[in-house]
Amino acid sequence: MENAFSDRITDVPKSFIREILKVTIDPSIISFAGGLPNRLFFPVKALQKASNDVFAEEGNDILQYANSEGYLALRQFIAERYRKQEDLEIPVEDILITSGSQQGLDLLGKTFLNEGDDLIIEEPGYLGAIQAFAMYRPRFHPVQVSEGGMDTVALGGVLNERQPKLLYTVTNFQNPSGISYSDGNRGAVADMVRDSSCLIIQDDPYGDLRFSGTRKISFKRLLPKNTVLLGSFSKTVAPALRLGWLVAPPPIMDKLIIAKQAADLHTNSLVQRILYRYLCDNDLDAHIATIIHQYGKQKETMIAAIKEYFPADVQYTNPEGGMFLWVTLPAGMSSMALFEAAIKKKVAFVPGTPFYVDRKDSNTLRLNFSCSDEPTIVEGIKRLGNSIKGLFYKQEIDRCLQ
Ligand SMILES: Cc1ncc(COP(=O)(O)O)c(C=O)c1O
Repeated sequence: MENAFSDRITDVPKSFIREILKVTIDPSIISFAGGLPNRLFFPVKALQKASNDVFAEEGNDILQYANSEGYLALRQFIAERYRKQEDLEIPVEDILITSGSQQGLDLLGKTFLNEGDDLIIEEPGYLGAIQAFAMYRPRFHPVQVSEGGMDTVALGGVLNERQPKLLYTVTNFQNPSGISYSDGNRGAVADMVRDSSCLIIQDDPYGDLRFSGTRKISFKRLLPKNTVLLGSFSKTVAPALRLGWLVAPPPIMDKLIIAKQAADLHTNSLVQRILYRYLCDNDLDAHIATIIHQYGKQKETMIAAIKEYFPADVQYTNPEGGMFLWVTLPAGMSSMALFEAAIKKKVAFVPGTPFYVDRKDSNTLRLNFSCSDEPTIVEGIKRLGNSIKGLFYKQEIDRCLQ
């Protein structure tokens, strides 16, 4: 049977995070490993009402096949939001509803990547993007991101040496690191890409979850013809809906629609109508404000606990939004070894390794702050701090005994 599988599927690793989440099913473990929005904020009653209303009022048509582009009213809602929030005029024809933004990544891979094509990915980068693109067997070129954005010297090097087709970015509150690109960095990246044939993918599932600072300029404004935007309702409404979208100019959209039709004909149209009804009858911005108020407090609590319980030479990002922060242990420490030690103290996180395309171990790790309440965050960070100190002393003793 082994020989029956395609090279494509054989080469792509299983999602490491899903493997880790299996360990964290034990309820006594405090988990900062998941990448989930907080279930307490899912608008259960409002979605239930929207669903009942759609069934009661919209008749048999809602159960029929629908068009591949997606429900027009929902696409108009998305266009209007871009206009209001970012002063971006997006024609509704440039918007394709996808089954989560994850499907947008797959469609882009299908549409653009031949085997061996060059693709720039952030380092560390979103694991789901690495997995989605890996299916098309490109050559990955990781370019480092840190506070403030992408390393433009390294980016220039790749742009000069190769002809990358795609540059994948998560410019706001990046998964996994929580960093955001500054306006200056966005401008510099856009200037470098402007004269190339490279297309920027700006994947933005977290942009609305800002709890401090100000909104930054979109690549869509800086490079309208060379940018594809991805958005999602997963973090603002609920991920189970599997509703996201993709914004692309006409020549690209034509091809993406072919890829979409081949993949699933169209995104679940019943769910699109239910979500649209929910959006008409409820104030999405008020709902998001509730979420970010809580996430902001949880992030502050995590940062305060890190300051108190982690050794001083551990570094960490301090995001202005989103769901994650990124920790860098002193050089030479292994976050895989820390994971083993931390599980014994009943606290979990995601080691940094799967967020790199080419590493077996790293001294970095991702912490999620959206899913735990504040007392749990303090207790978990205390346990993690103790695990770091324990591992550090063990390494020192091992070194002395060598
Ligand atoms: C950066 C990034 N892109 C895309 C996704 C997928 O989101 P969706 O639920 O819209 O498919 C995620 C999910 O965590 C993500 O972090």
